[in-house]
Amino acid sequence: MNPHLKLIRDYESRNVTHLAEDGSWPIVWERAKGVHVWDTDGKKYLDLTAAFAVAATGHANPRVTKAAQAQLAKLPHAMGDVHPHPLKGQLARELSKLTFERWARTEFRHVHYRCLPHEMPPRHGKTIFCNSGFEAIEAALKTALLATNKKGIIAFEGAYHGLGYGALAATHRKHFRNPFTKQLGKFGHFASFPTTVDELAITKKELNALFKKQAIGAVLVEPIQGRAGIRIPPPEFLRVLRTLCDQHNALLICDEIYTGFGRTGKWFACEHSSFFPDLICLDKALTNGFPLSACVGRATVMDRAWPKSEGEAIHTSTFLGHPVGCAMALAQLRELKEKKLITQARHRGNQLARICKKFPIPGSRFVGKGLMSGLAFNKSEGPRVMAVVKEMLQRGFILLPAGEHGNVIAFSPAFTITEKQLERTMRALQSSFKNLKS
Ligand SMILES: Cc1ncc(COP(=O)(O)O)c(C=O)c1O
Repeated sequence: MNPHLKLIRDYESRNVTHLAEDGSWPIVWERAKGVHVWDTDGKKYLDLTAAFAVAATGHANPRVTKAAQAQLAKLPHAMGDVHPHPLKGQLARELSKLTFERWARTEFRHVHYRCLPHEMPPRHGKTIFCNSGFEAIEAALKTALLATNKKGIIAFEGAYHGLGYGALAATHRKHFRNPFTKQLGKFGHFASFPTTVDELAITKKELNALFKKQAIGAVLVEPIQGRAGIRIPPPEFLRVLRTLCDQHNALLICDEIYTGFGRTGKWFACEHSSFFPDLICLDKALTNGFPLSACVGRATVMDRAWPKSEGEAIHTSTFLGHPVGCAMALAQLRELKEKKLITQARHRGNQLARICKKFPIPGSRFVGKGLMSGLAFNKSEGPRVMAVVKEMLQRGFILLPAGEHGNVIAFSPAFTITEKQLERTMRALQSSFKNLKS
């Protein structure tokens, strides 16, 4: 056995890393650059995952790395909610500009925000920084309770919002929930996630029934479901949710932890519909590789929810707004803008859809938007998909299955991937499926 994996086997909690008996999974990453990863044996791989959709501008992006190194040498840690460092406010301002301020401008003028009479129009955003995705979700759940005084949350079947106890109450999959139900809060309610207009009509009925029966403070939704297997709702979905939230004085929370920062070909996936949330949760591609996340809310909602700190914040953490993470995020946003990488992600996504058609794999269906896409198979095909993913690893391609049944081969590469590299991947995938059949 690889000596590094031996250490993992002996000293890491055994539920964390799956170690296949036959040595086919996992590899041990030594270094990474752009769209490539090298393992500890020196073998080179093409990474189609961007490591859980994080490294959007490429692994070890020079601009982001330089910013991280400089910040690490200058100030590696500050005092979260006590003595801030300059980059925290700068990043919060950038996030406001990218979200609520952009959404309020001309192109989206037709969108109506519902404000209480005493509120200013919601022109900017305010941020709570956190460390990982699930914490940003929990900050949003707390905001919803404080703003509405209603504890119920509606989430959707298939939803993945993370595994901390707060977020887990709104995460749907039994695999994650069942072992912990005894300690799990009961404020999460689930409606079906629609992928067609007919299904949307059913979802609407379910939502109305839930709003009638429960005191609902927020609807929490992934505009495109990621871990559920790249599930795209009809375009009217967010409009329906926005309207219901407005009617029932509930907040709309978009979990854009996976979809955010250009993954779907727009800065944020909600922009495909022009209906916007009250709170947006961000993580993954924000820093390109540092555990820093954010819950950004309409300033009016945030100020309504959270009391002014009188010296002891009611929600904080030791590493809140980490200076290295903030430096990386500011560099990452500059990189995305200056290199026009979001347009590139949209363009590459269209190319990938064409390439998938050119190299058809029987029984598969292309799903996706931008560079959040995949090949979906029947639910029963999970084992075959995993066998192909493992065989592709042998061939030098890093892929992951998605979906409750592991029946989707997901693609979430860096936006810097080339058309040729995508074509090479599909050629190899086609051959891998053929090999495994025979
Ligand atoms: C949509 C979505 N929300 C929340 C999370 C949880 O983020 P984290 O694993 O950083 O807690 C994930 C992680 O994959 C995600 O895809």
